[in-house]
Amino acid sequence: MSTVPKKNLLDTATQKLVESQVWRSIFRHGYPDTPLNQSLVMMGNVFLHLHPVKVSRQAMRITYTWCMGGISFFLFLLLTITGVFLMFYYVPDTNLAYTNIQQLNSAVYFGHLVRNMHRWAAHLMVVSVTLHMIRVFYHGAYKPPREFNWVIGVLLFIITLFLSFTGYLLPWDQIAIWAITVGTNLAPYTPILGNPVYQVLVAGSAVTQSTLLRFYVGHVIFLPLLLALLLAVHFWRIRKDGGAAGPPPPSRRELEARAERVAAGAARQ
Ligand code: HEM
Repeated sequence: MSTVPKKNLLDTATQKLVESQVWRSIFRHGYPDTPLNQSLVMMGNVFLHLHPVKVSRQAMRITYTWCMGGISFFLFLLLTITGVFLMFYYVPDTNLAYTNIQQLNSAVYFGHLVRNMHRWAAHLMVVSVTLHMIRVFYHGAYKPPREFNWVIGVLLFIITLFLSFTGYLLPWDQIAIWAITVGTNLAPYTPILGNPVYQVLVAGSAVTQSTLLRFYVGHVIFLPLLLALLLAVHFWRIRKDGGAAGPPPPSRRELEARAERVAAGAARQ
């Protein structure tokens, strides 16, 4: 008498499907129950491929990173989308900019909402990037092999601050003009370079139309593109460095102490 269990219709259909050429052309690995297949799953999927094949279990915990890097990225995307919306209404002209913003708040559908989303996301991004940097420092994740990514991170931090600074001038209200006047007056104190830094920033000897145009181009094109480029390098490096750094492995002394405790426990029994 045969002991081979009979396959039901569903099993047969599933088997036919996974053995079909269409299925095998998309999924090029078996069921992920072996280390090899698990690696192939990670490498063969465009989204999973963003992660390294193996990551530290500890580093995956939300309480380890607080997702501050992820939140910063989310805010950057939100700022890009809401920023493009604002670009349809805003003209970087000293005679028009202030009125544009007033009209955006009162006469444009969802204008007030989108403008505030852009403003709040900008403030939050400065906070989240700063917290992310503090978290990375606290965990010592700037140490080799991640020191290059730390340097990229410092550039990201500076660009985030510059995005915030350039955006502040755009409404062309009193607080914007005077805040940028005060802020740019720090530039001549830059070591060695001094005055040229002020000239490059302000495009003249005071905050004027040329400054507004320069800040606008920096805010909507130059800085976001640079940030996006550096983010690509940042994410690529995270992947190559094996994902977020987990806690350091136990030292030899800790391992020996652990082994002694186990041995003492066994001797007592
Ligand atoms: C636009 C700003 C930034 C974005 C969107 C971003 C995004 C991310 C993401 C998603 C991660 C994965 C782990 C996590 O979420 O913590 C990460 C890791 C990392 N980031 Fe950033 N980051 C930014 C700025 C910075 C800054 C300012 C620094 C430091 C100066 C930095 C240094 C690092 C390092 C060293 C890692 C690896 C951390 C580890 O291995 O534990 N990043 N970043």
